[in-house]
Amino acid sequence: MTATLENAPAKGETVLRLRGVSKNFGAVSALTDIELEVKAGEVVALVGDNGAGKSTLVKVLAGVHQPSAGTIEFCGRQVTLDSPAKALDLGIATVFQDLALCENLDVVANLFLGHELSPWALDEVAMEVRAWTLLRELAARIPSVREPIASLSGGQRQTVAIARSLLLDPRLIMLDEPTAALGVAQTAEVLNLIERVRDRGLGVIIISHNMEDVRAVADRIVVLRLGKNNGVFTPDSSNQELVSAITGATDNSVSRRAERKSGHAQESHGGAA
Ligand SMILES: Nc1ncnc2c1ncn2[C@@H]1O[C@H](COP(=O)(O)OP(=O)(O)OP(=O)(O)O)[C@@H](O)[C@H]1O
Ligand SMILES: [Mg+2]
Repeated sequence: MTATLENAPAKGETVLRLRGVSKNFGAVSALTDIELEVKAGEVVALVGDNGAGKSTLVKVLAGVHQPSAGTIEFCGRQVTLDSPAKALDLGIATVFQDLALCENLDVVANLFLGHELSPWALDEVAMEVRAWTLLRELAARIPSVREPIASLSGGQRQTVAIARSLLLDPRLIMLDEPTAALGVAQTAEVLNLIERVRDRGLGVIIISHNMEDVRAVADRIVVLRLGKNNGVFTPDSSNQELVSAITGATDNSVSRRAERKSGHAQESHGGAA
């Protein structure tokens, strides 16, 4: 189904590479000279303050916005993502924050919504088997694929939305704030699911404001600030380093305040950021 399957990168190989990507909206520079690399089997967290450019970057990769400058390489070749359909067809899937699920339809119907051209479409038995198989592979906790979305928890809905995008066999999946509205147990469930998606060999980009979730799941943490790259970190990087990169704070008191806000106050931090 995807044009890239025959040259799908193996784990550890580069799936996505951005060079000098910029995006202007009139006089507003939402992104300036962005460099980004995502490998197969890797979770990259995109973090940054409000207005840092995270959603704009995801929308550029989803084919919603066209970059004003720069190049995008996907699975080893330069691509033009001039529509959402093109991005999907190449193997770039996006789970937007609103999930776009139909409340009154069941899990199977939602999984296959918009996949009408797929070989299983309109064959109810085949779709149900495919749905069960995929959800089992993902160890998803969905009681029944005939359950309407309206009766599922937030975590289960996120699971259905992620599973739906996997049906198109993407090489890269982007998740915008997948745990934002979830409680502790459901967050853990979704983070586990993201790990299993990664283990299938996909490149994963996750946007999150929650540093705890980011540390739990990301292999690399890419900070954007005011539309520019502002450092690449690992889950082992100190919270102070991360918060300083996100806020641009050189003043220790500012970074301490932001740290407390992110739930990681470490009173032992003494040095300037
Ligand atoms: N369609 C648009 N037209 C004009 N300006 C835009 C548009 N989309 C985004 N911007 C501007 O681009 C900048 C980056 O916004 P973006 O939504 O990408 O930030 P973000 O990192 O996703 O922030 P948040 O954490 O609040 O979601 C902001 O200054 C924003 O106002
Ligand atoms: Mg955003």
